[in-house]
Parts: sequence; C-alpha cells; structure tokens
Amino acid sequence: MNILVVGSGGREHAIVWKIAKSRRVKKIYCAPGNPGIAQLAECVDIKADDISGLRDLAIREKIDLTIVGPEVPLTLGIVDSFEDKGLKVFGPLKKAAEIEGSKIFAKNLMQKYGIPTGGYKVFKDSREAKEYIKEHSYPLVVKADGLAAGKGVIICKTKEDALDAIKLIMEKKVFGRAGDRVIIEEFLKGEEASFLAITDGKTVIPLPPCQDHKAVFDGDRGPNTGGMGAYSPTPIITPKLKEDIMDNIMVPTIKAMGKEGRPYKGVLYAGLMITGNGPMVLEFNCRFGDPETQPIMMRLKNDLVDVLLSAVEGKLNKIKLKCDNKFALCVVMAAKGYPGGYEKGKEIKGIDDASRLNDIVVFHACTALNDSKLVTAGGRVLGVTAMGVGVKRAINKAYEAVSRIKWEGVHYRKDIGEKAIR
Ligand SMILES: Nc1ncnc2c1ncn2[C@@H]1O[C@H](COP(=O)(O)OP(=O)(O)O)[C@@H](O)[C@H]1O
Ligand SMILES: [Mg+2]
Repeated sequence: MNILVVGSGGREHAIVWKIAKSRRVKKIYCAPGNPGIAQLAECVDIKADDISGLRDLAIREKIDLTIVGPEVPLTLGIVDSFEDKGLKVFGPLKKAAEIEGSKIFAKNLMQKYGIPTGGYKVFKDSREAKEYIKEHSYPLVVKADGLAAGKGVIICKTKEDALDAIKLIMEKKVFGRAGDRVIIEEFLKGEEASFLAITDGKTVIPLPPCQDHKAVFDGDRGPNTGGMGAYSPTPIITPKLKEDIMDNIMVPTIKAMGKEGRPYKGVLYAGLMITGNGPMVLEFNCRFGDPETQPIMMRLKNDLVDVLLSAVEGKLNKIKLKCDNKFALCVVMAAKGYPGGYEKGKEIKGIDDASRLNDIVVFHACTALNDSKLVTAGGRVLGVTAMGVGVKRAINKAYEAVSRIKWEGVHYRKDIGEKAIR
C-alpha cells in the first residue's frame, strides 16, 4: 500500500515511524513532513491545510490510505474532499470534526446527552460576558469558541483576569473569528489525563491512557504549552476508571454524534479532569494528541495500518489492540522562550548518540536542515521517547538520551513522569 501522512510534527513522525514497521506498506509519503520523517518517508512540500494540493497528490501517487495528523485540515473538510474522490482517509468528516472546531458545539452536545462536563455559559456579546463575570465566584475559565492553537483558554483567578480575557478574545480579537463567541466555564479541580479512542462510528476502542504535561516549567508552573511531555500508562486511570470513561463518556459521545447526523470516525481524544466527582470532559479533540501519540505508538503492538484501515472501512470490530506492558515516556525538548517568543536556527547536536541507546526514539517536532546541518525550527523541537520496565527506568532512560542532545538555549522539563511515581 501507499500511505500519505498529513502534518509535520512529533505526532506525525511517531505515526510514520509506526507505519514504517507495517508489512502492508510499500511507500510512505508525508506532507509537509520534517527532516526526521524524511529518513522514513518521502516528504512532499505541500502544507497541511492545502486540501486540494493534498488531494491531487493522493490521486497522482495512488495513495491507498491517508492519515491526517492536525486538526486544521480536518475542520476544513479534508476528509469530505478526499472521500468525494473515492480516496480512503482516516479522520472525521468536517461536520464531525466540529467537536474540536467549536468548543460551544462540544459543550452543548455534552449537555444534551448527559456527558459529564463542567457548568458553563455561552456569550456572543462582550458586554453581557463582562456583566456575568461580576457576579461569578473565582477561579473561572474563559475559552474562545474556535481553534486557537492551544492558546484560547484562559484560567482567571480574579475578576480583573476575566475582564482582560474577555477583552483579549472578544474585543481585541487576538484569535480572530475563533473569538466571536466565548464560553465561561466552571473551574474544575483534579488531575488531568488524555483519553484517546479509535472508532469507526460503531465500535470504540480505547488507546492506552496518557498523561500530558501542559505547563512549560517543572511542577506544572508557568504558561501552558502544546505539551512538554507525556507518558503511558498513567496510574490515575485505573482499570475501573477506564471502564467508567468508556461507558459514560467515549461511547455515549460517539452515539450522540451519530444521532446528531454527524457519524464520527477517526480518533476521539477526550481531555479529562479526574475530579472528586469522577472524570469530567474539559474538551474533545478530533485527532491524535501531540505528544501523547509518541508514547502510544511505542507501546502499540498491532500493525497500525490494519487498525486505521479497519476504522475507515467500518470493520473495527475485527481488531483487538495489543500494547506493550512497558512504560513509555516522551520528554519534549523546546526552544528557550517557548511558548512565548523564541529563536530558531540553532544547530542541534547529539541525536545520533542519543538514538544509539536501546528503546529510545528521537522524534522530530520542528527541525530543519540548513546547509546539511540540523537546526531548530520552532518552539517544540524534539520529542525524546523511551520505553522501560516501570516508570523509573523509562524516566532514567529518556533523560539519559536527553542529556546527549544539545543546542544553545535548549529547555525541557526535568520532572516528566514524576507524578506517576507519587
Ligand atoms: N474547566 C476547567 N477547569 C480547570 N482547568 C481547565 C478547564 N478547562 C480547561 N482547563 C485547563 O486549560 C487547558 C486547556 O484547555 P482545553 O479546553 O483543553 O483547550 P485547548 O487544549 O484547546 O487549549 C486544559 O488542559 C486545562 O489545564
Ligand atoms: Mg486541550
């Protein structure tokens, strides 16, 4: 088979790495890809949101299956466009991807179908929103409705914070049209977890639960990022809790989408808060997580193409997932300053040395080649991922690999996985 992976981050590198092990695959393409992916696939310089360009590529290269990494092409309707031409593609249709594309749509769906989530109110008028927060107790959470590259959620400790958040999103429009409407939401206390499942709209198969690390500094301090590290399994998702999440969140959400005339296939990713009152949904994503996919792919024993193709063909009931019992842990190495401003173009050294360690894969997230030198090209640069028996070994191994990789101004968290020990 010829496979096309759309995207260019660590998530896509992990997917390509896993697909490269498939017996069914003849050739892998990735658009636009990155220098790490280029070692395993032919990278084609087409942007992830250039849907007609990608579709032409899929037709020209006789692609048998396309896997879409990021949310933007999904919410723009890449799946609809490919299916119109009879192309097989893993991911939800545009109207199903709205579960991520509009936080208001997702909240209303959850409310209608009794899926556990925090209390909320929707505003399309900034004056009314400002009026409402005067009466409210704190903290509370202000969220832009649409896609904001992980920056559209503001946790407000005081009324002043909330006023600023509303001004930023609704008046200054820093996220553009994504901020036409906002949600003001109850602040939930607890521990977060990422729960991903693959579905063909009927069968829902959970992927191994993960823990992400959103904050930029150790001890979950500092601003939120796209994710500074992840590990799987996570001890806070006990087998009983996993069943509870499947029965009360994942399966009912897929059923609800079907009832709403938006049948869902692809990955459904629930961002959860595990509260004293059980798991509650913070948001849904319509695709694989980044960096959660890196540890998941390392643990997954199935042929990924078998699994994803079965989902596309509505035959997921034939699949049984098998996971390695080992612990997998990804440490994100980022540029100094991220998620604020940062410099690019710093030469990266030591990846080969780190990759020589057993059970280590260095996934590229944002790198580039400059005169055949590998350089940093974004905020999150690498995802160093290790497998080990037990959490401590995985942590030690990952950080040993990390210590072999250097560039000027590198920043990474030193405490990825420590929650799993506590
Ligand atoms: N209701 C809430 N209570 C507490 N924290 C929240 C709440 N909603 C979001 N958060 C925090 O903000 C982060 C981002 O929110 P999320 O809804 O996942 O949006 P996005 O990933 O699109 O930025 C979450 O990972 C969580 O840490
Ligand atoms: Mg999130």
